[in-house]
Amino acid sequence: MTNLADFDALQKHSTLFSLLSESGRTRLWDVAREVSFRPGETLMTEGATGSNFHVITEGSVRVTIDDFGRDKEVARLGRGAFVGEMAAIMMEPRSATVVAVDDVSTLEFDGARVEDLLREFPKVREALVKLALKRSEDNLQQLMSMDISGEGALVEQD
Ligand code: CMP
Repeated sequence: MTNLADFDALQKHSTLFSLLSESGRTRLWDVAREVSFRPGETLMTEGATGSNFHVITEGSVRVTIDDFGRDKEVARLGRGAFVGEMAAIMMEPRSATVVAVDDVSTLEFDGARVEDLLREFPKVREALVKLALKRSEDNLQQLMSMDISGEGALVEQD
C-alpha cells in the first residue's frame, strides 16, 4: 500500500515530481488515486481513448503493440515508470496495450486535471513530451525492424 512516505520516495525517482514545486506536488497528490491490478489484467488498450496515466508503485507491466495482428512486446516497466502519459500529452488514442505481469499497484492521475497543472509547469510538460516522443520513436523502429527469421515477413498473396 502506498502512503505519503512512499510518495516522497517516488518524488526522488521521478523527473515529473522533482520538477514540481511543493504546492504543485500537493495538488498532484490531490488528483491521484491508488489502484491495483491482478496479473494479466489490462491497464489500457491500444487504440482506445483515455487520458489518465499511471505511475507504477509496485510490480511490473508488459507493453505491447499490434504488429500486423501479432502482439509485439516493446517494453517491461516497473516501479517508478509512467504509463499512459502518451495519450494524455499527445491527445491521441492509446499507443500500446499495457498488461500487469504480476500484482501491480499504481497511482492513477486524472489526465484532464493534470493538464491544468502542466500549464503552470512547462518544464514538466517538456519532460513528458520528450518521454512520449522517445517511446513513439522506439515503437516506430520496432515496427519497421526487419524480421530476418522470415516468421513475420510479409508474403504477397495472389
Ligand atoms: P499511452 O499511449 O497513453 O498508452 C499506452 C502506454 O504504453 C503509453 O501511453 C506509454 O506510457 C506506454 N508505452 C508505449 N510505448 C512504449 C515504449 N516503447 N516503451 C515504454 N512504454 C511505452
